[in-house]
Amino acid sequence: MNIFKFQNDEDFVQTGANLVASLLQSNPKAVLGLATGSSPIGVYERLVKMYRKGLVSFAKASSYNLDEYVGLPVDHPESYRSFMNKHLFDHVDIDLSRTHVPDGNAGNLADECLTYDKMLEKEGPADLQILGIGSNGHIGFNEPDASLSSGTHVVDLLPETREANARFFPSLADVPRQAITMGVGSILKARQIVLLVRGAEKAEAIRNAVKGPITTQCPASLLQSHPNVVVLLDEGAGQWLK
Ligand code: F6R
Repeated sequence: MNIFKFQNDEDFVQTGANLVASLLQSNPKAVLGLATGSSPIGVYERLVKMYRKGLVSFAKASSYNLDEYVGLPVDHPESYRSFMNKHLFDHVDIDLSRTHVPDGNAGNLADECLTYDKMLEKEGPADLQILGIGSNGHIGFNEPDASLSSGTHVVDLLPETREANARFFPSLADVPRQAITMGVGSILKARQIVLLVRGAEKAEAIRNAVKGPITTQCPASLLQSHPNVVVLLDEGAGQWLK
């Protein structure tokens, strides 16, 4: 793992954006694995700026998002499809038909998970997977558990995850109880993983993930087994790192 700590936000987001941009420069048809949440927003904003300056193009790229809430209308402002449109897709030249977010409103969620995995198998693996980490160590919505699923699956969100995400909704009761998420097997297949971690409230989770034992009780710790992971930390998240 290559771990970098940044004293200022500018360097944090530029480094993350450069990793994506240089991949697209060398491989315009790259498959991007994308995350939502607050952690990658600055990187997406920087990529939009770079696109506007002609420094990067997504025209031939495709993308697969990690996860989506179950039962939230796709046009709800907090659906992950809406998030991606708002923060990235609406502002760059990506072909929307090549952007994929699991369908949390599919009539048959099990079929939707299989279909997502089949598409990923055919087109993937991701050349670069962007990740955030939950305060409980989750990646995607793979929550700490005695065992973890490899492929895309439906997950019951833990109370702490719903509470953490309640900041995006009018109230806790409005936060969906389930999500579809790519499994850790699919995540670990990515050729390169870029884990973006911001804020002191993530310090313990990321320290456990990179320094603690590899355990399904901290799903992000499985990243230690991957040969090409870059971890970008801000001051708060990296306060334990000398
Ligand atoms: C989002 C995702 C989640 C988030 C994590 C951190 O697609 O898969 O694992 O990355 O919950 O969320 P933030 O960045 O909002 O703290």
